Amino acid sequence: LLNAIEMAPRDPILGITEAYNADKNPKKSNLGVGVYYDDNGKLPLLECVRKAEAQLMEKTAPRGYLPIDGLAAYDKAVQDLVFGADSAVVKEKRAITAQAIGGTGALKLGADFLKRFAPDAQVWISDPSWENHRALFESAGFVVNNYPYYDATTKGVNFAGMLDTLKNMPAGSIVLLHACCHNPTGADLTDAQWTQVIEVVTSRGLIPFLDMAYQGFGDGIESDGKVVGLFANAGGPVFVSNSFSKSFSLYGERVGALSIVATSAEEAARVLSQLKRVIRTNYSNPPIHGGQVVATVLATPELRALWEEELAGMRVRIREMRQAFVEKLKAKAPNHHFDFVITQRGMFSYSGLTKEQVTRLREEYSIYAVDTGRICVAALNSGNIDYVVDAVAQVL
Ligand code: LMR
Repeated sequence: LLNAIEMAPRDPILGITEAYNADKNPKKSNLGVGVYYDDNGKLPLLECVRKAEAQLMEKTAPRGYLPIDGLAAYDKAVQDLVFGADSAVVKEKRAITAQAIGGTGALKLGADFLKRFAPDAQVWISDPSWENHRALFESAGFVVNNYPYYDATTKGVNFAGMLDTLKNMPAGSIVLLHACCHNPTGADLTDAQWTQVIEVVTSRGLIPFLDMAYQGFGDGIESDGKVVGLFANAGGPVFVSNSFSKSFSLYGERVGALSIVATSAEEAARVLSQLKRVIRTNYSNPPIHGGQVVATVLATPELRALWEEELAGMRVRIREMRQAFVEKLKAKAPNHHFDFVITQRGMFSYSGLTKEQVTRLREEYSIYAVDTGRICVAALNSGNIDYVVDAVAQVL
């Protein structure tokens, strides 16, 4: 059995971190994976997390199993955050939320759930999308297609192409949309474009699946999450995966959630009962610690205020790095225009660097980026930006 197994390729994103970790060059920079580092190049431990953990330590408790759908206080706090505590969906109990193993785990639960109840539907993801979207839905058994999204000439969204494809999909198709901070391009839809998308998705009976892994890294917690509320108000079904990996810097705790909006409380209860079966057969029930930390922060007014402040700090620093990258590059490579990097949102920039240029950055400068040219702006800092800009100017 095992001797015939072929070597699998490295993961296109996490494989870069493996190569980076093995690199001995002291000047190395990992602009591959979507992780926020502070201005010292360090992974932050948020103060709100430290304080919540100190509180939890004071009342350490035995570790029984959590319910299949996770910690109730966490699910409630997440639902209020994602939809708004005063929203109609929450008040009418039309939404269910289950703790998941990170945003990826939430996507996987949603994919497995959909495969059970919409086995013949096809999935549509943006072109391009996060590398793992296709792999995840394909491994759940779906055929995965692309809808047009990024326009390399304008460095923006090919909205006409996107809308046209949405208008021609069979009813019941599953459409994966990035709620904010599009990964990998950083190019988001405008409010007016979202209105049109929601109109087409609803009128054509498509199933929206919103992936929100970067809430708070675009323009703010509320404005980044706004589109989720708009979809929810347009009626069910709506699937939402969200993650606290980045916004709480809790990557390794794997804290995320899957929410599903139904058309009534009664329907929602049936949905939850089935989702619990999916969870039970995947990993039984989620771990406790990360969910407890997030629930504590979200439910404690001082900690929540601190979190919002710390998240704003990360968002502002990324913006500053975008600005600095563009200005410095203007000086070093005046014939190249990178102004679009400033308007992109979230952690990433689809830089336009070619695969060859990315390879040179890695081999000659130990600067790691994704082969598609995606760079993680959140990994730039005042200590490495000049080295990175010089290298980029050289490979251009
Ligand atoms: C990324 O896109 O780099 C992140 O979402 C991390 C991951 O799991 O790929």
